[in-house]
Amino acid sequence: MTDADAPLSYDSLRSARWFAPDDLRSFGHRSRMLQMGYAPSDWAGKPVIAIVNTWSDANQCHAHFRQRVDDVRRGIFQAGGFALELPAISLSESLVKPTTMFYRNFLAMETEELLRSHPVDGAVLMGGCDKTTPGLTMGALSMGLPFIYLPAGPMLRGNWRGKVLGSGSDAFKYWDERRAARLSEQDWQEMEAGIARSHGTCMTMGTAATMMGIAEAVGFTLPGASSIPAADAGHMRMSAECGRRIVEMVWADLRPARMLTRASFENGIACAMAMGCSTNAIVHLIAMSRRAGHALTLDDFDAASRRVPVIANIRPSGDTYLMEDFFYAGGLRALLQRIRVHLHVDARTVNGRTLGQNIEAAQVYNDDVIRALDQPIYAEGALAVLHGNLAPDGVVIKPSACAPHLLQHRGRALVFDDYPSLKKAVDDPELEVTADDVLVLRNAGPRGAGMPEWGMLPIPAKLLRQGVRDMLRLSDARMSGTSYGGCLLHCAPEAAIGGPLALVRSGDYITVDVAARRIHLEVDDAEMARRRAAWTAPPARYERGYGWIFGRHVLQANEGCDFDFLETSFGRAVPEPDI
Ligand code: FES
Ligand code: MG
Repeated sequence: MTDADAPLSYDSLRSARWFAPDDLRSFGHRSRMLQMGYAPSDWAGKPVIAIVNTWSDANQCHAHFRQRVDDVRRGIFQAGGFALELPAISLSESLVKPTTMFYRNFLAMETEELLRSHPVDGAVLMGGCDKTTPGLTMGALSMGLPFIYLPAGPMLRGNWRGKVLGSGSDAFKYWDERRAARLSEQDWQEMEAGIARSHGTCMTMGTAATMMGIAEAVGFTLPGASSIPAADAGHMRMSAECGRRIVEMVWADLRPARMLTRASFENGIACAMAMGCSTNAIVHLIAMSRRAGHALTLDDFDAASRRVPVIANIRPSGDTYLMEDFFYAGGLRALLQRIRVHLHVDARTVNGRTLGQNIEAAQVYNDDVIRALDQPIYAEGALAVLHGNLAPDGVVIKPSACAPHLLQHRGRALVFDDYPSLKKAVDDPELEVTADDVLVLRNAGPRGAGMPEWGMLPIPAKLLRQGVRDMLRLSDARMSGTSYGGCLLHCAPEAAIGGPLALVRSGDYITVDVAARRIHLEVDDAEMARRRAAWTAPPARYERGYGWIFGRHVLQANEGCDFDFLETSFGRAVPEPDI
């Protein structure tokens, strides 16, 4: 299918079922459009495009969407379409509790049902802050209408007394300095004011930048869209371009099921590895791929990580640059051009061309920001997946952001059953802990706690004062994409459903060998069986509402944490409204 195929007729558009018939129901639809001041010439004979906008007063990263939506609208009108803005939950990573991960599937459901219930033929999805990219695209994939993803783009670099500050990463770094009593109240307040100084997403290679880049590599965005800083005028032009293109996509019937293959999602993995992605990429990309009927597994990520090196010198894997620098260095297209041999260049994208065509002319303008394949930041990919008796369904680590001496390590477990007790203990000057111990946090997985970003367990203050800045930490939680350190994450099955993590005791020895992809708890099977017999499941957290659905239906981390009842893939669509 190409755009050159015969375009659809107006009668075959979905929205025509609402607006075209000469019957009482359509009279109602039309008269209420007239009530809003539109005339039939605004919509008749035209594709209706939903602009699913995650703007809200509570999402700093999407503040510009209030204006950008008008740019998208302008493009839609220019191309002969009709625009309907449909707001969706905005999921601010920094304000939403307990964690936006808890609501990613909520946004996915909302997106799918917004599109299904309204008279729309295609959609522009406006997101960027961490979970919004997977949430919006998962929902749109399940609905199956043509869509384009418009990434919010990263914010400008942070600045404090002439020092560049990166979202998250520098907050964590300087917080440790503050805990070690090396920063004053005044320093800290100035940093607060300097670290986020424009609209747009976190500008380190956190989950937002990772997922926006992946969306582009999978083919959901127009070429180059994921790297444009939110404050750049190019972002407005890109917004209008998305509006123009989606109208063409509707006429060409370029639905995701006709565009995407397994190769599209494998391109997402290769891109993630080269970017030095957030560990969250694994959970989200698996969930997205399963929605499209092309299920990726942890093994796909681990295999890619052995092939594709990290070449984006962006914090936290790199130590210098930020997403603004990445844009000036050529952006994602230039990075993809560098890893071209690792891509399926024939995969289709929303502009109707292949990924290979889209990156053909891309160039790198700064070889220190986007490295050559033989001058990488890290010789393997960003993530590694380990297995063993402690994690039969896998545990994830980001070796590129971890102190090298921890990649092969044996240490004594120091176990915490919940975050409050961990938090209290790490500030205790008498805590019995050494830099060789392995901090363990459990009951923080999907069912245990909604899988919050608690996985970069704080280094005990006592060790910080001794100069320790990294140690091995293990949990069934996630961590922020802007985090770093020897953090073993997403341990599956999680403790709250009785995974082996639930049975570890302080004093047990844990061995980790990242090169061999092994994690081992030095406790024999008979003792594990005794501990299992004595184990009881923690009580369910939610008695009602959305939490009730979440607790019963969320899948494990290695399966993408989608709800089991939402995974209906292409070809098994939910029926259209039949009235
Ligand atoms: Fe929105 Fe980081 S808080 S992307
Ligand atoms: Mg984040």
